[in-house]
Amino acid sequence: MEQDQDQEHEVISMPRIGDAAPEFKAVTTQGEINFPADYKGSWVILFSHPADFTPVCTSEFMTFAAMEEKFAEANCKLVGLSIDGLYSHIAWLRTIKEKIEYKGMKNIEVNFPLIEDITMEVAKKYGMIQPNEDSTKAVRAVFFIDPKGIIRTIIYYPLSLGRNFDELYRVIIALQAADEFDVATPADWRPGDDVIVGPAGSCGTAKDRMEDSDIDCKDWFFCTKKLDKETVLDRVLRKK
Ligand code: BEZ
Repeated sequence: MEQDQDQEHEVISMPRIGDAAPEFKAVTTQGEINFPADYKGSWVILFSHPADFTPVCTSEFMTFAAMEEKFAEANCKLVGLSIDGLYSHIAWLRTIKEKIEYKGMKNIEVNFPLIEDITMEVAKKYGMIQPNEDSTKAVRAVFFIDPKGIIRTIIYYPLSLGRNFDELYRVIIALQAADEFDVATPADWRPGDDVIVGPAGSCGTAKDRMEDSDIDCKDWFFCTKKLDKETVLDRVLRKK
């Protein structure tokens, strides 16, 4: 049985968190890009969608495009991909702008690049084709890549499930807050919530933690501290 599956599907390679983002050159709706070199110094979200002219993807593109400026303020650029061709991409984006209204959004212009990947070269490099879901469409993959070109978060959704773009924004802010303030962020964290102080690596540190009045330790391994919203947003949004 295992052997049958191996014979049916080629082995899928997927980059992992902490890996350098695989390099590629591609044609997009905004001209050619050399990835990730062209994005050095910025955060970038590289995301795939199954197909142009499909409803879930349309709702996603409108939502992402409406939030593009908000991501730009957090020094984050957006790059989309599907295995459709360039002319299909152009026609779809024109249709979105001219005809589609969704949740009060209309006349939406998608200004971020949308990669044409008819050969599936990029999609395969990033493990966006998951044959047991669909062998001719990319799933909804989201790669968060930092200004040094390192993959920092990966989220995958199936074809039927539209992404939550507030969550994608929360991730970009949380990753940057963790870097800037050398902290971790707990469940459901949002700017203004307390943050987690990293684990104590020695008995001495554990003891100091318990006695530090700026840190609230419920036990030596579970310590939080205040980090106010303005401080987080000033630092993250100022880096644009
Ligand atoms: C959609 O975006 O609506 C969609 C695309 C592929 C399969 C299912 C839904």
